[in-house]
Amino acid sequence: NSNIPVITIDGPTASGKGTVAHKVADRLGFHLLDSGALYRLTALSALRRGTDLRDEHALAKVAEHLPVRFNGGHIYLGTEEVSNAIRQEEVGNTASKIAALPAVRQALYGLQLSFRETPGLVADGRDMGTVIFPGAQLKVFLTASVEARAQRRYKQLIDKGFSANMDDLLADLQTRDARDTQRAVAPLVPAEGAHILDTSQMTADEAVEQVLAWYAHP
Ligand code: CDP
Ligand code: CDP
Repeated sequence: NSNIPVITIDGPTASGKGTVAHKVADRLGFHLLDSGALYRLTALSALRRGTDLRDEHALAKVAEHLPVRFNGGHIYLGTEEVSNAIRQEEVGNTASKIAALPAVRQALYGLQLSFRETPGLVADGRDMGTVIFPGAQLKVFLTASVEARAQRRYKQLIDKGFSANMDDLLADLQTRDARDTQRAVAPLVPAEGAHILDTSQMTADEAVEQVLAWYAHP
C-alpha cells in the first residue's frame, strides 16, 4: 500500500502536531494516526498494571497486546474511554521514557503501518518521516519556542480541568525535549526532505494552510 499518500508531521512536544494533523486530515478526508497516543497508552497500561518500568521485555509485551480502539476522536483501552487519562503529564513522562526502548518501538511498528489506508493518512509523532513512513509524499517538521509550547500546554491542561504550574511545565518540556532528541533509537530529528515550520508566531489554522499548500504544490 505504498501508493497510498501519507503526510508526516513530526516535532517536539506541544508544537501543535496533534492539532494540525487532525485539521489537515479533516480537510483532506484522510485517516489520522496519533502515534504518541500509542506510547501514552502503553505507559498508562503499564502504570496501571504495575509493570516494572525497567523491564523492556515486559513493556514490549504490554505494547504488543494493547486492547486499543480509536473511535472518532475517542480512544478506548478495552471498554474504558481513556482520551483524557492519557493526557496527564505523568503518563506523558512515562511514555517518553519507555519510548526510548527499542523493543517497545518494535512492538508498535506494525500497528502504525496498518493505519495507511485509502484515501490517505496524516501521521503525527517523532519518527513518522524518519522511520515509520520514510517514503511519505510530504514530510513536515513542526516546531515552536519552548516558551510558546509551555504556554500552549498550560492552557490545554487547565482547559481539561487538570492543575498545572508554569515553571514545572517548562522544566518538564526541556527534559522531554532532551530525552526525545538524544535517545539512540528513532531520535527526534527532521526527516530528510522535511519542510520545517516554526509556529511560535502562528495560529494552528495558519500552520494548517501552509501544510495544505505544500501538499498541493510539492
Ligand atoms: O503530546 P506530546 O507531543 O507531548 O507527546 P505525544 O506525541 O503524545 O508522545 C508522547 C511521548 O511518546 C513523547 O514524549 C515521545 O517520547 C514518544 N513518542 C515517540 O517516541 N515516537 C512517536 N512517534 C510518538 C511519540
Ligand atoms: O501534538 P502536540 O503535543 O505537538 O501539540 P497539541 O496537542 O496539538 O497542542 C498544541 C496546543 O497549542 C493546542 O491547544 C493548539 O490549539 C495550540 N496551538 C497550536 O497547536 N498551534 C499554534 N500555532 C498555536 C497554538
